[in-house]
Amino acid sequence: MQSFYVTTPIYYVNDRPHIGHAYTTILADVLARYHRLMGTPTFFLTGTDEHGQKVQRAAEAAGITPREQADRTVVRFQDLWRRLEITSDDFIRTTEARHTRVVQQILQDLYNRDEIYRAEYDGWYCVTCERFYTDKDLKDGCCPEPGCGRVVERIREANYFFRMSAYQDWLIRTIRERPGFIQPDFRRNETLGFLRQPLNDLCISRPKNRLTWGIELPFDADYVTYVWFDALVNYISAIGYPEDRTRFERWWPATYHLIGKDILTTHTVYWPTMLKAMGLPLPQTIFAHGWWLVGRDKMSKSSGNVVNPMAFAERYGVDPFRYFLMAEMTLGQDASFTEEAFVRRYNADLANDLGNLLNRVMKLIGKYGGGCIPEPADGAAGGDEIALRKAALETAGSVGAAVEGMRLDEGLARVAGLTREVNRYMERRRPWDLGREGRLEDTATVLYHAAEALRIVSGLLFPVMPNKMAELRRALGVRERAPDMGRLQEWGVLGAGVRIGEMRSLFPRIQDASGTDAPGGTEGRRTGGAGRRPERSKEEKVEITYADFEKLDLRTARIDSAEKVEGADKLLRLQIDVGGEKRQIVAGIARHYKPEDLAGRTIVVVANLKPATIRGVESRGMLLAASSGDTLRLVTVDGDVPGGSAVS
Ligand code: MSP
Repeated sequence: MQSFYVTTPIYYVNDRPHIGHAYTTILADVLARYHRLMGTPTFFLTGTDEHGQKVQRAAEAAGITPREQADRTVVRFQDLWRRLEITSDDFIRTTEARHTRVVQQILQDLYNRDEIYRAEYDGWYCVTCERFYTDKDLKDGCCPEPGCGRVVERIREANYFFRMSAYQDWLIRTIRERPGFIQPDFRRNETLGFLRQPLNDLCISRPKNRLTWGIELPFDADYVTYVWFDALVNYISAIGYPEDRTRFERWWPATYHLIGKDILTTHTVYWPTMLKAMGLPLPQTIFAHGWWLVGRDKMSKSSGNVVNPMAFAERYGVDPFRYFLMAEMTLGQDASFTEEAFVRRYNADLANDLGNLLNRVMKLIGKYGGGCIPEPADGAAGGDEIALRKAALETAGSVGAAVEGMRLDEGLARVAGLTREVNRYMERRRPWDLGREGRLEDTATVLYHAAEALRIVSGLLFPVMPNKMAELRRALGVRERAPDMGRLQEWGVLGAGVRIGEMRSLFPRIQDASGTDAPGGTEGRRTGGAGRRPERSKEEKVEITYADFEKLDLRTARIDSAEKVEGADKLLRLQIDVGGEKRQIVAGIARHYKPEDLAGRTIVVVANLKPATIRGVESRGMLLAASSGDTLRLVTVDGDVPGGSAVS
């Protein structure tokens, strides 16, 4: 039987996880869940990339050992995956013996067969990308990697090289012959374009006098392994290569290596040539997805716009967060993440279309079906019913095809379309009128059709929103928590007479503080913290409990820099450091402070305020200030405390 083996990149443990990491892992999870429900034997692998310069540097900066750095950070990924309902079958850490042993075996074998050789190297090295370049590789004398462009160092040293160049022609031929190997097509062309230049041999070692945090070369103790040569091997070491041949062959070749577009060359050039040298077959598909931007900007620590997936899922729920990421990104293309877009989609697809439909159907079944799935009457089903059944079954088929074709956003758009179709059907057939008029067979038939269509919707959305859809299924009286995908293309599965469950609102509408629906409500309405709260008269004063007060996360923060927000004469954009976490906030203090006077001050911020976009600039938190008439002064602390200290 065909199996399904899906992998994510293994993530560096130099920093905390962000929405980009969450995206790839949720995508793999959705695919894995879908295939499991299809009955396909499935293996889903994720993990962490723990060696190399990035991790060593992060450890140095934190004043800890690289192992401590890895041990501290890995739990952040593992906690997040638990929170996001990730059902990976294994989590590999490249520092585990089961992995390091395999890397060393592979290196030794390639060295014995002269696939790896020692040579003197003289070239340009980019410390950030951990890669060597020749003179002609450089761009304006700097690192040519997109998004890097840093100054490179001239390095002359002996190293070990993998004879990658020997496989160039073979690789070009293979990519041409196997159109599915690199997807989407434009990424395949990108790799073919890269291969138009002569391919160099790959330097796979780093001398210990420069880097100690890596897997020692089995044939030379003065060197550690280049982090990519180590990391890529995780895809086979985790499934038993080379010791457990049976397990290995059960899963290899992988069905999908899911990656972001940033790591295309390593996966489509280094990895296939490494596998070829090892005598192993290639994965079926390397799929490179696009980039999540925040608004229109690249997400980066220095701009303070890194989206924290844990915080977002806490605020709005895990399932809607998963849904948004899957529905919003067309696989392969870049997508834009904003809270406004999230709220808009949530309110439209989930709260309005699906949640309200379910409420309505449940209430009517309570009223006219005595709380049990009604029995449809053959004679009462007409053209509308036939059309609804057809739409539901066709949708189930097309979602399957969309998942197979890696067009998840299209699949979800189809399910949203079906939900709207059921709403239109209800409006046309008006079971509430039919019930009032005593046309009970018609009422029962319409409610059965709506409920059965909802069963299909819940099954199709299950891999994306497992908890919410399990709730929906319980509400419809379906016994199995998870659907059998095969039964989504059948009509008439809901048993008449089965008691429906309790249902509280599945997707409560998101409203902003002013009570209006949120999109646009957040933008512009809040002008960023200090100096804008209307003064309250004594009579108006509201008392709060200590528990209310405790909800505020007040913290000290150091201002790193400040600048004016273009086109807004009251606003300043501040880059702040809240105990090591870099953030950007917008504050209405430009009339009271000059940007250059603010750097270095320690202020107090509300750290858990919902992020908002103010004049197009994201603000994550609000500073505190005292104001009276025209005077406004920042709240600061009396003496030295580290940034990020709790204020209570
Ligand atoms: N450790 C390497 C991968 C080794 S795989 C054998 C690495 N790690 S990483 O922590 O930098 O994670 C890179 C991956 O995170 C990307 O390929 C992508 O899957 C995801 N993303 C990181 N930033 C992203 C966005 N802004 N948007 C979408 N995904 C991105 O590279």
